[in-house]
Amino acid sequence: HSLMEGLFAIRELTILLLLCDCVLIAKTYSVKNCYIYNDKAFCSKQKLSQIPTGIPPSVKSIDLSLNAFRKIQVLNFTNFPNLTTLNLKHNSISYIGKGTFSQLLSLNLLILNTNKIEHLEDDVFDGLFNLTELLLGFNRIQTVAPNAFRSLSSLKILELSKNQLQSIGLLCGIIQHTPQLKNLQIRGNGIKTFKSNDLTNSSIGITYLDLSENPLETFEVSAAVFPMLSSLNLGSPSRKLNLTWAVQKQTVLENVTTLELTGVQLSSGSEWTRLFSSFNSSLTFLKLNCMKYKLRFLISVSCSIPTVSQLQLQSNKLTFISSSLFQKCRNVTDIDLEENKIKNIDNGSFDKLDLSFNLIKTLECQDFAQLTNLTQLNLQWNNLTALNKCSFVTLSKLEILKLQGNLITKLGGAFTKNLPSLKSLLLNHNKLTAIGKHDFRGLYSLQNLSLSENQIQTLDKSCFSGLKSLTYLQLQMNNLRKESIGNNCLRKLVKLRRLDLSSNHIKYQSSRLKVPPFMNLSNLETLMFSVQRARGKGLFPSNLLQGLTNLKTFTCNTNFIASLPYDSFTYTPHLTSLDISANELLDITPQLFAPLRKLRHLRINNIHAHSLHFLIDANLTELHELEAKKNAFSVISEDIVRSLPSLSVLGLQFNRFTCDCDNSWFVQWIKDNNQTEVEDADNLRCNYPPQSMGKKLLHLNVQSCILDVGFICFISTACTNILILLVTFIYHFSRFQLIYAYYIFLAWLFDYKNRQKRAESQYDAFISYNTNDEAWVYRELVPRLEKEQGWRLCLHHRDFLPGKPIVENIADAIYGSRKTICVISRRYLQSEWCSKEMQLASFRLFDEREDVLILVFLEDIPSSHLSPYYRMKRVLKKRTYLRWPRPSEQQPLFWEKLRQALRSISTAEEDRLLLTVAQSS
Ligand SMILES: *[C@@H]1O[C@H](CO)[C@@H](O)[C@H](O)[C@H]1NC(C)=O
Ligand SMILES: *[C@@H]1O[C@H](CO)[C@@H](O)[C@H](O)[C@H]1NC(C)=O
Ligand SMILES: *[C@@H]1O[C@H](CO)[C@@H](O)[C@H](O)[C@H]1NC(C)=O
Ligand SMILES: *[C@@H]1O[C@H](CO)[C@@H](O)[C@H](O)[C@H]1NC(C)=O
Ligand SMILES: *[C@@H]1O[C@H](CO)[C@@H](O)[C@H](O)[C@H]1NC(C)=O
Ligand SMILES: *[C@@H]1O[C@H](CO)[C@@H](O)[C@H](O)[C@H]1NC(C)=O
Ligand SMILES: *[C@@H]1O[C@H](CO)[C@@H](O)[C@H](O)[C@H]1NC(C)=O
Repeated sequence: HSLMEGLFAIRELTILLLLCDCVLIAKTYSVKNCYIYNDKAFCSKQKLSQIPTGIPPSVKSIDLSLNAFRKIQVLNFTNFPNLTTLNLKHNSISYIGKGTFSQLLSLNLLILNTNKIEHLEDDVFDGLFNLTELLLGFNRIQTVAPNAFRSLSSLKILELSKNQLQSIGLLCGIIQHTPQLKNLQIRGNGIKTFKSNDLTNSSIGITYLDLSENPLETFEVSAAVFPMLSSLNLGSPSRKLNLTWAVQKQTVLENVTTLELTGVQLSSGSEWTRLFSSFNSSLTFLKLNCMKYKLRFLISVSCSIPTVSQLQLQSNKLTFISSSLFQKCRNVTDIDLEENKIKNIDNGSFDKLDLSFNLIKTLECQDFAQLTNLTQLNLQWNNLTALNKCSFVTLSKLEILKLQGNLITKLGGAFTKNLPSLKSLLLNHNKLTAIGKHDFRGLYSLQNLSLSENQIQTLDKSCFSGLKSLTYLQLQMNNLRKESIGNNCLRKLVKLRRLDLSSNHIKYQSSRLKVPPFMNLSNLETLMFSVQRARGKGLFPSNLLQGLTNLKTFTCNTNFIASLPYDSFTYTPHLTSLDISANELLDITPQLFAPLRKLRHLRINNIHAHSLHFLIDANLTELHELEAKKNAFSVISEDIVRSLPSLSVLGLQFNRFTCDCDNSWFVQWIKDNNQTEVEDADNLRCNYPPQSMGKKLLHLNVQSCILDVGFICFISTACTNILILLVTFIYHFSRFQLIYAYYIFLAWLFDYKNRQKRAESQYDAFISYNTNDEAWVYRELVPRLEKEQGWRLCLHHRDFLPGKPIVENIADAIYGSRKTICVISRRYLQSEWCSKEMQLASFRLFDEREDVLILVFLEDIPSSHLSPYYRMKRVLKKRTYLRWPRPSEQQPLFWEKLRQALRSISTAEEDRLLLTVAQSS
């Protein structure tokens, strides 16, 4: 029973251990050169020339980009039945064999960009019935076999850009086999002639066709081949040729909405008219950048397409805008004039005017006089230095005014009365140094004001008067000091929801402020206060945030604050996001977070903290995201993690992790938990112990730590089990040997004890015999030896002390006798030979090198019968023995030999004597 129990216990333990192994393998499957995470294999940039073996078959995506593959062929990708994405970008693949991907039945996306493929042979994509996107750009493809795309019946997107295709006819096989194709990109090839007949005769469903950067000479569409085409790019031809426009019927491109003709040349104006007439019914967005032909003419013709609403005219060297230029563009709402050389503006009548990236220096009072319907005016990135009162006086409908990226130093009263509808005013990246009294008073609809990236140092007490609707104010990257906002200039901005004051010089030296600057901003939800660059360390006044009862986000990183008072956040109970990174806070007290019951995001990067223990008592039960990078944490304990029950993202990069068993719980948790994502966990590095420096934390052998406890348990359990097993086993199969072993042990013990005593022998011989031979002993032996020869014998029936343990009696008898006579018969061998007497005697015999044992054989015992009695054989080999004579033989000789044996003292002498006795017998 116990045997079975033991066996079961061991089997269970073994299974448990195996299970542990399996779990670990599944989670941190590490294949050489690949990182496997979330069923995705990342094997990028490994200089691989062979697909790594060992990627688990369950992966859904394999990234093999930036390696050194040259050839791929059948059997290279087997055993990935669930693979949907295969990225082979940026290798040196020049050959793809037939059926290479034929086992990837689930593949949706195949990326082969930037390789050296020249030819696609028949059936290269065999089996890819579910492929929807195939990217073959930036190769050297010149030819495509007719049946190369035979399996790709689901293909929707095909990129063939930047290859060496010379003729569109090469793609006819592709079109034939890809009925679902929507998006075809053939940019940057060598196609001179595009004739729809070369491709197909029937209608196909392509909606997006990119033919840009080809040396296109002829564009011919003869029938309704592209009924669904909505976006067509013929721009940026790679050679300056006149394009022949051969679209025969007006209706064949009737659904095109977006057309790009950047840099396209036609031979004459009538050609242009013919071209635009092909898009008469649907075109909404026309790109005419970098045009060589007369722009005025092109604008006029294109604006007569009634549907066009958006016109892009970038890089056209326009210097002058007049109302007549856009006269026909009644329905155009959006004109993009970026990258021109506009110096003057005449009138126009659109609602959006984009004059950005030009060279405009001044605005005259008349410039926008006619543009009363304008809602958006983009003047960013010009050379304006000043505004004046009349600049925008007529623009009563203007909602968006972009003036960023100029050189404006003075606002000149431009906003004191005008622009009643203005909602957004961008004045960032100018050269303003001060905002004066009532500077924005007229902008009572203004919601968004950007004044960032100026050099503003002074804010007048009433500079923001009138901004009743302002919700967003950007003042970052200026020269503001604590005095600049200390005059309560923000008090009127009662609707403000977001205020950015970062990257200024606002630094406090007092622990409490007389006039907290944000007192009236009870609607403020976001306050950015990071990076205050004044010299020296600052204090965080405990009432700085007073009034911000609805503040949700507060960033205060990089302010050189040495500590945060424990009551810093008592005024902001609704804070959900707090960033106090990059201050030398060292360690934080849990009380700081006491008012912040709703905190969801906390950033404490680089605050020189040594531990996250403060979190244990901070009670941040809502915290979802914790970033604590670049600190000095070495151990993340279970308590810390358990104190954040809602945590879903944890960033701990660049800490000083100790890679020993202290972190084993953490490492195991990173791998096992599925609630919290530990950012870039694979790159967390060890700092200690020295031999682990720089190694990956996740490579810590957690198992060995778990085994520290588990292993001991295992070993002890296993040992106990084995012992039980062994004992059971022995007990079952050789209990006698066990008893025997026990006696040997006792014998050794007694021998050891008695060797010390070495008393004068009480007897001449101790007689060891079997009770069956008792008759012989009492009738023959005792009378002869005791009565005739006068020896003192010890017989256990007679001389053993009653009450004394038997083993002790025997021991006393043997040690108290000079010799031990064994009376050997078959029975004796069977029952007594292995007895305690024999063992004790033989201990004396062997260990004290004394001739203790005298063997007397009562009957003839063939040596074959002696073989089980190993010890006996050994004794017989070394010593001779006496045999009780047969009836015919002489008894007196026997008794004489025995007398001499009993008398003998010296080993050598007896050896000789016994030898003779034996020979004679
Ligand atoms: C593809 O398989 C062939 C034959 O099994 C092998 O020789 C070759 O190295 C493999 N190629 C890659 C890129 O693993
Ligand atoms: C592939 O996905 C199916 C369905 O999700 C799943 O049953 C099967 O085990 C996956 N195959 C492998 C090799 O992971
Ligand atoms: C192929 O796609 C279809 C539809 O998306 C899907 O039902 C089928 O399971 C996919 N086949 C394979 C082998 O993934
Ligand atoms: C073109 O588009 C219109 C509306 O978007 C649609 O009704 C019509 O069917 C399309 N033409 C073709 C040939 O698909
Ligand atoms: C394109 O046409 C114009 C006008 O007919 C002509 O002057 C020019 O030489 C042509 N350009 C080329 C490259 O043929
Ligand atoms: C402007 O669009 C309307 C319909 O949207 C059309 O009737 C009118 O002709 C268009 N005007 C111009 C100048 O294209
Ligand atoms: C401004 O728009 C109104 C109505 O949309 C129109 O009647 C008026 O002519 C437009 N003014 C200019 C100068 O285009």
